[in-house]
Amino acid sequence: MALYEATSSAPVNIAVIKYWGKRDTKLILPTNSSLSVTLSQDHLRSTTTSRADPSFERDRLWLNGKEDEIKPGSRLETCIREVKKLRRELIEEKDASQPKISQYYVHIASYNNFPTAAGLASSASGFAALVSSLAHLYNLTPPLVSPSVLSLIARQGSGSACRSLYGGFVAWNKGSSPDGSDSLAVEVAPASHWPNMHALICVVSDDKKGTSSTSGMQRTVETSTLLQHRIKHVVPERMALMEKAIQERDFDTFARVTMADSNSFHAVALDTEPPIFYMNDVSRAIIAVIVELNRISLEQGKGYRAAYTYDAGPNAVIYTLDKDIKDIIQLIVSFFPQKEGEFKDNLGVFGEQLAGNINA
Ligand code: ADP
Ligand code: DP6
Ligand code: CO
Repeated sequence: MALYEATSSAPVNIAVIKYWGKRDTKLILPTNSSLSVTLSQDHLRSTTTSRADPSFERDRLWLNGKEDEIKPGSRLETCIREVKKLRRELIEEKDASQPKISQYYVHIASYNNFPTAAGLASSASGFAALVSSLAHLYNLTPPLVSPSVLSLIARQGSGSACRSLYGGFVAWNKGSSPDGSDSLAVEVAPASHWPNMHALICVVSDDKKGTSSTSGMQRTVETSTLLQHRIKHVVPERMALMEKAIQERDFDTFARVTMADSNSFHAVALDTEPPIFYMNDVSRAIIAVIVELNRISLEQGKGYRAAYTYDAGPNAVIYTLDKDIKDIIQLIVSFFPQKEGEFKDNLGVFGEQLAGNINA
């Protein structure tokens, strides 16, 4: 009896132009385009194993060792169903000699090597790894199935996950088709395009966030007037500026726009009824340090040295260039000393390189 099992890992991506708001909650179609950087898998990755077996009685999923129910109509169910459908249509219905494993139930086990639901994009790496492991289980690999097809499926698990199928600098174009077929991620530039770009992850807290991204952004769509301004008059220009900055390796513009967009996203969170606060005092203190560092450097005519950005949580990601990493780590650690035993193992500051394409 053959064993049908596959394991894939996927990295997180941290947006520099934030996705926040859905125009279609079922298909996960965003109210604005977004752009992110995929990090290496050293510190922040999800690893997912999928197994298909005729003896299984239903699809099941374990996250970090604990079973998560796969509810009917849920995003998990959608992703599993869509990958099974691809297997059927592209392989089993085309070649009768291929085993019909899409008919078996699957058991899926996933582990995150970093805090889950703490604003470090676990839903992005999580759904990218899930879709990728199922795709490997069913032999849905390039050239038969391209990363963009998997990106469309991962998007229906968690919006930000569609960007984790690619390495480097990735745009998620919001698209305009009602069926979502043009709302997918595309590579803006590979990681190798800007090799001296790095991300520092400052884990301020590994607590689960009070308001999930999904419910937070839904409330913002329903109640924030500022969001309408953001999606119409702020993001489109910033997308163009950011793509150009990346093409030209223009760190000053990259840094300026990254920080402005993080601020804008947290402003619309605050403009939500009731208001949502994702950053805490330490997050704001880190902003002050980076602002001061840049102010001194700009005053000396030397340009920006670092850019902070915060997802839906208090943890900072700082984009910086090779030459400044050491200084910035020292600076952050000196302002926020990590006494031995004070933090748990996975709290602290660590450097990340950018990642290549997970499906290459
Ligand atoms: P985050 O900021 O970590 O992305 P979200 O609120 O967007 O937080 O999403 C967290 C949810 O994503 C989790 O509660 C879980 O449902 C899902 N998730 C996280 N990691 C995984 C994984 N490895 N596999 C499947 N789903 C995951
Ligand atoms: C602040 O992708 O986690 O990280 O689509 O509802 O699963 P769902 O939300 P999610 O939202 C991410 C929001 C963000 C910004 C970003 O990653 O672009
Ligand atoms: Co998320």
